Amino acid sequence: MKLWIPFAVSAGSLLTIASFVGAGWDAPPVETTQIGYRGTGMYIHRDVENQEALKAANVVPAAPWEADPAGDRARDIYENVQVLGDLSDDQFNQFMASITEWISPEAGCNYCHNPENLASDEVYQKVVARRMIQMTQAINVDWQSHVGQVGATCYTCHRGQAIPVNYWYEDLEPKPAGGMTQNRAGQNVVAKFGGNSSLPQNVLKDYLLDAKQIRVHSTTALPTGTNLNGTKETEATWSLMMHMSESLGVNCTTCHNSRAFNAWDESPPQRVTAWHGIRMVRDINANYMVGLTPVFPDTRKGPEGDVFKVGCATCHAGVQKPLYGVSMLQDYVDSLAKKGPTDVPDFTTYQPGTTQRMAPAGQSSALQTKLTSETAAVVLPEASQTAND
Ligand code: HEC
Ligand code: HEC
Ligand code: HEC
Ligand code: HEC
Repeated sequence: MKLWIPFAVSAGSLLTIASFVGAGWDAPPVETTQIGYRGTGMYIHRDVENQEALKAANVVPAAPWEADPAGDRARDIYENVQVLGDLSDDQFNQFMASITEWISPEAGCNYCHNPENLASDEVYQKVVARRMIQMTQAINVDWQSHVGQVGATCYTCHRGQAIPVNYWYEDLEPKPAGGMTQNRAGQNVVAKFGGNSSLPQNVLKDYLLDAKQIRVHSTTALPTGTNLNGTKETEATWSLMMHMSESLGVNCTTCHNSRAFNAWDESPPQRVTAWHGIRMVRDINANYMVGLTPVFPDTRKGPEGDVFKVGCATCHAGVQKPLYGVSMLQDYVDSLAKKGPTDVPDFTTYQPGTTQRMAPAGQSSALQTKLTSETAAVVLPEASQTAND
């Protein structure tokens, strides 16, 4: 009769052992750094073995050669250079060689170009790349409050791949069963972008695309009715905080004293950098990524049809400072640390595969006429285009 007891005991111990040796459990050695006064619980814990792998994955590639800034300007040499026109020929070539290594080392130049016509914008990746150049310039010029002098290059996000490893999109929410579960608020499924927790799964669009307030903490000891945020908003904030912690490979204490999560005067300085980072990421997503939606094919979008967007992990990739704070920018000062023209073409008119120049309004030039008249045969007539839409 009492046979179930030994069974339960052995099943219990097996489960306990499994939880220690199974996936997701950090085995020692763990390295602990004290970052605040003794007794305040301000410690950062890091898995030592994991650190070795991260160090190996975060080595900065050297520039292919040192570019000569003298000589004719790219805009005078080439037909369709809209953003990088101020570079010298050598700087322009060095930049093309570098982005090939950073984005498409296997496919090479042809990943963005028709080799027969380098000036044409018929390959969609070239149109995206031009906008990404403007985006990276904006990061380095407008967001020094976050990226400092270290700055960012395409490599910070791309690391030799056309699509960065870490990005986010609107995840499909499971259908509710009905009744009381009707509004599940994105809960109790794996929140891939919220540290694989069961916290609300789709919060990044509120905080890293839209500018939803991140204020849930009460500032008084007893309820006064002034804090209208409840559990739901707090959990959404927490999900974002999990995304941020996971992206940087840190604990909450890197930015907060958990005694009072809201208090800025008790927070480490990293929290201020993170505050600017949140604003920077909103700017990147709202003003650069979303605008490219008509250019990207469906295979480059999430299940809800939105483009892949930038999160903290896109640059940070699990470390507190991307690439351990080593700057690549000094080799690309003229291309990426200052702004070229910031005008944007009307991306909704883009026709991939057609010889064309995707230029901002008012910039269509003799070149436009030249490009299209030469290849009139491949330009889709208006009518068939509308039929395709
Ligand atoms: C990741 C995409 C990408 C890759 C890879 C790439 N390019 Fe480019 N290329 C561009 C963009 C974007 C422009 C336009 C820049 C601008 O408008 O300021 C451009 C422009 C050019 C131009 C000027 C053409 C003209 O007449 O207007 C040349 C030449 C060129 N690239 C050569 C190369 C070579 C050679 C390689 C390989 C070593 C290469 N590119 C790889 C994106 C790319
Ligand atoms: C802040 C991060 C970030 C930076 C910096 C960045 N990119 Fe991107 N890039 C992305 C993301 C995310 C995507 C994927 C978007 C999608 O597929 O919906 C992308 C997509 C692209 C694509 C399209 C690839 C394809 O096959 O669809 C090209 C080309 C590209 N980037 C070029 C560049 C170049 C060139 C630079 C530097 C001038 C650069 N990127 C800088 C985040 C970044
Ligand atoms: C990389 C820095 C960083 C990390 C790591 C981080 N936070 Fe935050 N946290 C912030 C910033 C910045 C804000 C304020 C955001 C704003 O105002 O836009 C914030 C706000 C909050 C708030 C709201 C405070 C208020 O005034 O209502 C809570 C609660 C919070 N964080 C909890 C956490 C928890 C829990 C963790 C760990 C899972 C965590 N944070 C990890 C930077 C961080
Ligand atoms: C465009 C790439 C990029 C993105 C996206 C990005 N960061 Fe950063 N971040 C950087 C760079 C570069 C530094 C190093 C700046 C320096 O050393 O001056 C940095 C530094 C930081 C630091 C300071 C670390 C320290 O110890 O001083 C924090 C905290 C941080 N980022 C948080 C975030 C958060 C949170 C997000 C998402 C909301 C984010 N970052 C998104 C590039 C990025």
